[in-house]
Amino acid sequence: MFQILTMLLLETQLYVVSGERELFTVEVPQQLYVVEYGSNVTMECRFPVNGSLNLGLLTVVWEQKRQGQLKSKGVYTLRNGKAFAPSQHHDYIGRAALLHSELKLGRAILQITSVKITDAGSYLCLIDYQGVDYKYITLEVKASYKRINTQVMRKPGEDKVVLMCQSEGFPLAEVFWQNENFNLSGSANTTYTLTADGLYNVTSILTFKPNISENYSCVFWNKELNGKTSAHISTLALMSNQYSGQKSLILFIVPMCVMVAVLSSALIIFQKRKSLKNEQPRKDRKRKLDPNMKDENRDDFNSQTEALYMSTVTASRDSGSVVL
Ligand SMILES: *[C@@H]1O[C@H](CO)[C@@H](O)[C@H](O)[C@H]1NC(C)=O
Ligand SMILES: *[C@@H]1O[C@H](CO)[C@@H](O)[C@H](O)[C@H]1NC(C)=O
Ligand SMILES: *[C@@H]1O[C@H](CO)[C@@H](O)[C@H](O)[C@H]1NC(C)=O
Ligand SMILES: *[C@@H]1O[C@H](CO)[C@@H](O)[C@H](O)[C@H]1NC(C)=O
Ligand SMILES: *[C@@H]1O[C@H](CO)[C@@H](O)[C@H](O)[C@H]1NC(C)=O
Ligand SMILES: *[C@@H]1O[C@H](CO)[C@@H](O)[C@H](O)[C@H]1NC(C)=O
Repeated sequence: MFQILTMLLLETQLYVVSGERELFTVEVPQQLYVVEYGSNVTMECRFPVNGSLNLGLLTVVWEQKRQGQLKSKGVYTLRNGKAFAPSQHHDYIGRAALLHSELKLGRAILQITSVKITDAGSYLCLIDYQGVDYKYITLEVKASYKRINTQVMRKPGEDKVVLMCQSEGFPLAEVFWQNENFNLSGSANTTYTLTADGLYNVTSILTFKPNISENYSCVFWNKELNGKTSAHISTLALMSNQYSGQKSLILFIVPMCVMVAVLSSALIIFQKRKSLKNEQPRKDRKRKLDPNMKDENRDDFNSQTEALYMSTVTASRDSGSVVL
């Protein structure tokens, strides 16, 4: 309401002024801007500056109106060279700015950062600088379905496979399914919801009996942008799930076998050692009785135990020789 009054006021001023001076006109080098959701956009209006800019005399108003809405939103206002915050709609707080350094060149450049779907619409740029004029610029915002989430499942209790593709974008996309030879879209169920950001959250589910084909793809077709994105799904993933089940079994069995082997060999060694200890006093006694038994004693040990207990054996032999 306020802005409309200002405009009318400025426009009457225009008629008074135009009689004395050359007509003040605002120009737009680009009438249509199409930008990607989440990116930054700068939209430009030009106005005549004769020599150096007198900022105190400059007023720039940027307003946005969405299609089908009556009320416009204040995007950015510069009044007599100063930012006028109260007229800014909360949607644009912290996201809209006028590039002040460009003003002296007669360029009123509005920058909007991290563009939202709701930023799309018609933008009015009105400039009052010892004369007043305005132009409209159109902003379109698109969001391609660039990240497609996929899922493969086996329908429990049935021999059917369920493939799912989900993505967000704008405007609404159609989803097609295909494998190497067939268009499978007929058996797909595609639904959507709207996110808080105004994006379409599209989910498409294809349920089918698997056959020889293993490669499937879902295609998100954004008709208005004539843009396509796709994701490929392999039903081999279901197979690899089974493999990974076997793998985890192997991962369990192998350490178990190793543990059993280690434990049993430890047990064998322990028992051999025990029998060795039990034998030794007997042998020593024998040795005392018959020194010729020495060589025979050595042959009692198998080579492994001999290696392990070499030190013990030599010690006992030494002690034997001391005794002898
Ligand atoms: C958008 O502008 C902001 C602030 O100027 C900057 O930090 C950001 O990197 C820009 N983003 C892109 C995608 O250019
Ligand atoms: C620009 O300023 C000069 C002198 O300052 C004046 O003669 C001329 O008419 C002005 N032109 C416009 C378009 O206002
Ligand atoms: C499609 O899926 C929606 C929700 O998942 C469900 O309500 C609807 O009945 C399904 N339509 C068909 C034709 O299967
Ligand atoms: C989109 O929908 C899927 C389920 O269909 C849900 O899991 C996901 O969280 C939704 N994403 C957003 C951003 O709403
Ligand atoms: C594989 O599935 C497609 C789609 O369901 C079907 O048209 C085709 O006849 C099937 N092929 C075989 C060999 O079953
Ligand atoms: C499926 O795709 C993979 C890789 O894209 C390829 O190696 C394989 O041969 C394809 N399978 C069939 C049956 O076409």
